[in-house]
Amino acid sequence: MIDIKQLQTIIDNLITQSMRDFANSPDLDKNRLRQLRQKDVLDSFSPNQFLSKMNLINHIKSLNILNKDSEIVVFGSWYGSILIPAFYNEVKKITCIDMDSDVIYRAKYELFKDFDVDFITDDIFNTYRDQYKDTTLFINTSCEHMRPMKEWGPEGPKSKFFDNKFGVPKTYKTSWWKKVSPAYFAFQSNAMFDIPTHINCVNNIDEFKKQLPDNAEVLIEDTIPDKRGNRFTLIGKI
Ligand SMILES: C[S@@+](CC[C@H](N)C(=O)[O-])C[C@H]1O[C@@H](n2cnc3c(N)ncnc32)[C@H](O)[C@@H]1O
Repeated sequence: MIDIKQLQTIIDNLITQSMRDFANSPDLDKNRLRQLRQKDVLDSFSPNQFLSKMNLINHIKSLNILNKDSEIVVFGSWYGSILIPAFYNEVKKITCIDMDSDVIYRAKYELFKDFDVDFITDDIFNTYRDQYKDTTLFINTSCEHMRPMKEWGPEGPKSKFFDNKFGVPKTYKTSWWKKVSPAYFAFQSNAMFDIPTHINCVNNIDEFKKQLPDNAEVLIEDTIPDKRGNRFTLIGKI
């Protein structure tokens, strides 16, 4: 099985700067969509991605919280490019959830077709899933793309469905974090406010902490300098 450092070496040697420049070139042609998708996959293996993901991976490993019975759920997983190889041999099960069906398709049927990973297309705020019951570690490195993690749970009163022929859906009074406790979390966000899809950036680690679920205990916090805006890591228990 492949080692994560080895994967980084292979990717760095395989994907040349001219390939990255081609994927990034602004030429509009009929392959533009394919080109954008290709750029997105390359981005997920970029040196900056390795830098921030290795920070998270090394901190998680330093806590010794995972073993062969552990289960990991990755929210906003994107392609799972670096996290899947990093943890695949260390745990029993990995579930990746992303709302972009193209991303999940590419990961499930191409990049990780030989891996036994659960890939799900959904907005993580939509559905409470069976997988969460036995989850050891929730990873979310896409916190800047979505509502704060403390709001993870049902949207509130479901009276709009009152006339639904299936009846009134159950409304949970407590956030889903209470239901999954005890578990660990490992979250990343950043201060890259200029990127249009970043709807929830934070300026610093204290702002990021305010987005944690109420019952969260922080075990590790770290800041990764980046000239486009710092990245922040928070790991802890719920
Ligand atoms: C650009 S990617 C990853 C960025 C992140 N900084 C990283 O390095 O891992 C962000 C992903 O989050 C996903 N996403 C955003 N909001 C989501 C949600 N509510 N539920 C599931 N996936 C979501 C997007 O579809 C996208 O694939």
